[in-house]
Amino acid sequence: MESDWDTLRALGAVTAACLLLWAAWGVGCTVYVYLLPPVRRGAPWLRAHGAWAVVTGPTSGIGKAYAHELARRGLNIVLISRNLSKLEHEAEEIERLHGRLTRVIQVDFTGGLEIYEAVKTGLKGLEVGVLVNNVGMLYEKAMAKLLDCEDVAKRLSDVINCNIMSVAQMTAIVLPQMVSRRKGIVINISSFTDRKPWPLLSAYAASKAFVRNFSQAVGAEYCSQGVLVQTVSPLMIESNMTNNVKYRTLVLNSADFARQALDTLGLTSQTSGCFSHAVQIALLALSLPSWFCLSRWGPKFLLLLNNATVKAKPSHKRP
Ligand SMILES: NC(=O)c1ccc[n+]([C@@H]2O[C@H](COP(=O)([O-])OP(=O)(O)OC[C@H]3O[C@@H](n4cnc5c(N)ncnc54)[C@H](OP(=O)(O)O)[C@@H]3O)[C@@H](O)[C@H]2O)c1
Ligand SMILES: *[C@@H]1O[C@H](CO)[C@@H](O)[C@H](O)[C@H]1NC(C)=O
Ligand SMILES: *[C@@H]1O[C@H](CO)[C@@H](O)[C@H](O)[C@H]1NC(C)=O
Ligand SMILES: *[C@@H]1O[C@H](CO)[C@@H](O)[C@H](O)[C@H]1NC(C)=O
Ligand SMILES: *[C@@H]1O[C@H](CO)[C@@H](O)[C@H](O)[C@H]1NC(C)=O
Repeated sequence: MESDWDTLRALGAVTAACLLLWAAWGVGCTVYVYLLPPVRRGAPWLRAHGAWAVVTGPTSGIGKAYAHELARRGLNIVLISRNLSKLEHEAEEIERLHGRLTRVIQVDFTGGLEIYEAVKTGLKGLEVGVLVNNVGMLYEKAMAKLLDCEDVAKRLSDVINCNIMSVAQMTAIVLPQMVSRRKGIVINISSFTDRKPWPLLSAYAASKAFVRNFSQAVGAEYCSQGVLVQTVSPLMIESNMTNNVKYRTLVLNSADFARQALDTLGLTSQTSGCFSHAVQIALLALSLPSWFCLSRWGPKFLLLLNNATVKAKPSHKRP
């Protein structure tokens, strides 16, 4: 009897020690990645990977903030998105504010394989050190069931081409010269929805799960050849995608976000981008368990939550 209790006590102590170690490891990693300025890699390290950075979707939101921050840290920028007048305006701004060279490529990423010829031609001869796969779209303005969006077939094809195909193809275009120089950084912008299935965001969340898993796998394939892959999975960032969200205090400004997220480069291959999002995502995971989201009540609850946080009339203009 006595010895049974002793065994149980010892087991309890070992379990408690393991849990404590695990928690300490988590806290230690968080501090290292987000809160220790001296370990950050800095601009010279970034520039050593190549003179140019390519950013997809650079005319608004997160992509625009990344483009400006990379230029501020000394890289020339290639901007790739749909609207030529927005692209040219952004390129002029980058040249004016940061004194770097720019190049624009007009492409609609909802297209298929044929659009990547223009990208290849546009990038010919450039030493690309950093690729930011940022372009991405939701299939509805807010959360919705699959059949509640207009023209489902077209929207699904757009989301898959824009969020998945673009990342894979852009990487395949830029990777060869990075591998031959044994230097390069690929940043894939994913989303907090990449960890588990999300009802009401089904195709979007699944496309981001692809981004995360693909990045991890390709990162493992090429890390021995000097290519660094990072997946950034933010929560809510101020941008056109979120302009109808109510509680703005929870939403991070995209310029601050890009600065903090770029500071984590070289320190971690998976990040939510900044300390405040790391904390918010941990809290969200604790309060909204997967089994509940995926039960029959999950979508109803998420819809209520969505209605509580989104303004009734979505405005399509930036505030
Ligand atoms: N905002 C958030 O809270 C949040 C949270 C998690 C993850 N993310 C992810 O972060 C990324 C950027 O989001 P964002 O909020 O910054 O978006 P955004 O403000 O809507 O900007 C989208 C950018 O992509 C371009 N673009 C859109 N559709 C395109 C297409 N079909 N072909 C080419 N370019 C296109 C737009 O330029 P043009 O109009 O000129 O084409 C614009 O520069 C996305 O991958 C998104 O999933 C965002
Ligand atoms: C491109 O953007 C400008 C400025 O936002 C807008 O006026 C114009 O209509 C857009 N062009 C297209 C083809 O969407
Ligand atoms: C993300 O990064 C990896 C690293 O090279 C790349 O191969 C992949 O295509 C990118 N995109 C996705 C969807 O993971
Ligand atoms: C992706 O990778 C994670 C591990 O990082 C794994 O748990 C998960 O099952 C994979 N698949 C999807 C769809 O996320
Ligand atoms: C915001 O998004 C809407 C619809 O997705 C689009 O029509 C509008 O042009 C975008 N605005 C900007 C400033 O990009």
